[in-house]
Amino acid sequence: MEKTNKIVIVGAGNVGATTAYALLISGIASELVLYDINRQKAEGEIMDLAHGASFVPPTRLRAGYLADCREADIIIFTAGAAQQPGETRLDLVDKNTRIVEKALLPILEQAPEALVLMVTNPVDVLTYQAWKLSGLSPERVLGSGTVLDSARFRHVLGQHCGVDVRNVHGYILGEHGDSELAAWSSVHIGGIRLDDYCLACGQGCGQEKREEMFRQVRDAAYQIIQAKGATYYAVGLAVRRICEAILRDEHSILTVSSLMQGEYGLRDVCLSVPCVIGRQGRIKVLELNLTAEEKEKLQHSAAVIASYLPATDR
Ligand code: 2OP
Repeated sequence: MEKTNKIVIVGAGNVGATTAYALLISGIASELVLYDINRQKAEGEIMDLAHGASFVPPTRLRAGYLADCREADIIIFTAGAAQQPGETRLDLVDKNTRIVEKALLPILEQAPEALVLMVTNPVDVLTYQAWKLSGLSPERVLGSGTVLDSARFRHVLGQHCGVDVRNVHGYILGEHGDSELAAWSSVHIGGIRLDDYCLACGQGCGQEKREEMFRQVRDAAYQIIQAKGATYYAVGLAVRRICEAILRDEHSILTVSSLMQGEYGLRDVCLSVPCVIGRQGRIKVLELNLTAEEKEKLQHSAAVIASYLPATDR
């Protein structure tokens, strides 16, 4: 039988619809199902997307009922309340936990072989909840985590240094949220460690400049939400990137959120560190050689996330 690449997107809001659009343009999915309790919204989005069919690679599109989720390869979960101005991602925990608890299992019953990709915030807490609820192996339950934040970091650095973002490499680790950290010690530009690059560059940026750039990255979503109400384009592209790595078995390194099982001295918490991603989901967790300060910040971020898990899991 021909191998299909079937993706179900749960939630037809801004993030779900934009993710569908990004996936449609990439042509990576042979079938794309948009599933939402507001069926009319899902149907409207699918109709709008389908009218672009002559401009993109072929993808079967459908606004789905539960049964249409059958045999999905990836279930992307975007349903839930979105962050409002003045709210943190962690403020959404109660509302969105209830939505995950209600919606995830019936979908997984239709697609027991699927990988779960959590996008709804607070993504690290909900990735953990999805793993717990589903009974799937930790390798098969991922969160979009700081894939977006790492992209924002590379963008900010690339702009500042005047270098193509694709040649700037760096990771944001920990929570996709306020306690995240930049792994400055592993940043490199075209293979040159950042400290060496800075010495040769001579712009004379000090620690303060680095802190300012990090704040720009960490607080980017607040700024965008203040300006236009929501973020969705870049996260849609980040999710598409993760799906490509999975479906093409690329073994790409991405900072997805997933369950820590002793890596970095952490357990029983989902957060972002660089992982090798392929068709099986998480193939390997990479352990960076962090400085003592970075390690401490990662521990702190893990503790913040863990404090939002149900008391029985802490
Ligand atoms: C973002 O970082 C709000 O989590 C969303 O864009």
